[in-house]
Amino acid sequence: MSVIYLEQNIPTLDGKPVVDNSSHPMRKITNLIAQNDGNWSEEVSKQVSSLFSSLAPNWNSSRHQYTKDPVIDALRRSELKDTNIGLEIGCGTGIYSSLLKDAFKSLISVDLSIDMLCECSVKDSFYIQGDAMNLPIRDDSISAIVLINCFLFKTEMKRILKPAGKILFISTSGDSTPIYLSPEQIESIYPNSDIKTAVAGWGSWYSIENIKTN
Ligand SMILES: C[S@@+](CC[C@H](N)C(=O)[O-])C[C@H]1O[C@@H](n2cnc3c(N)ncnc32)[C@H](O)[C@@H]1O
Repeated sequence: MSVIYLEQNIPTLDGKPVVDNSSHPMRKITNLIAQNDGNWSEEVSKQVSSLFSSLAPNWNSSRHQYTKDPVIDALRRSELKDTNIGLEIGCGTGIYSSLLKDAFKSLISVDLSIDMLCECSVKDSFYIQGDAMNLPIRDDSISAIVLINCFLFKTEMKRILKPAGKILFISTSGDSTPIYLSPEQIESIYPNSDIKTAVAGWGSWYSIENIKTN
């Protein structure tokens, strides 16, 4: 099955910066991890955590104004059937947790960086510090996984997701986002799975279900 492209419902308003982030160091890590969980080690984990911890104090003020559009669109149009337990991975400062909280009966949000988590509002989610490569979550237990501007750890995502569960992979600046995967990459990571995608505002999203990995 190939990727289904949905029509754009939220327009891309003027002013989106055109940035070629195809050689961004984060893009390289994103590709490596998504292809084969590659090169993720205790050392890389510490480096990534320390990088985002240094960005935490200014993270919220550095976001653009339309950052929530693709999240809203994905939640509206990805047809989540099981909304029992949502897991937000790489939640950062929790900018999107309040939106996700309304979509699920229970929401858990995980991040590597304690400094990013310290910026979160405790009323929006149950926040835990952890590494998405090795989550303290049992097999086949999560209804939907939401990754917003975060790496896709395909083996661990498949392990914890219910067989009928869904992954939402959202990039708030679309293909200008440093942590981004193209439709072709998503299709090669999850061949023969059901994949939908849409552009929304300045960003884009994928929903992935009936997941099979290569
Ligand atoms: C680009 S930021 C995005 C934060 C938030 N989702 C947002 O869009 O504002 C990526 C986040 O993923 C977290 N992260 C990176 N690798 C991770 C891992 N292995 N497990 C959990 N979180 C991770 C980082 O600490 C960081 O907060």
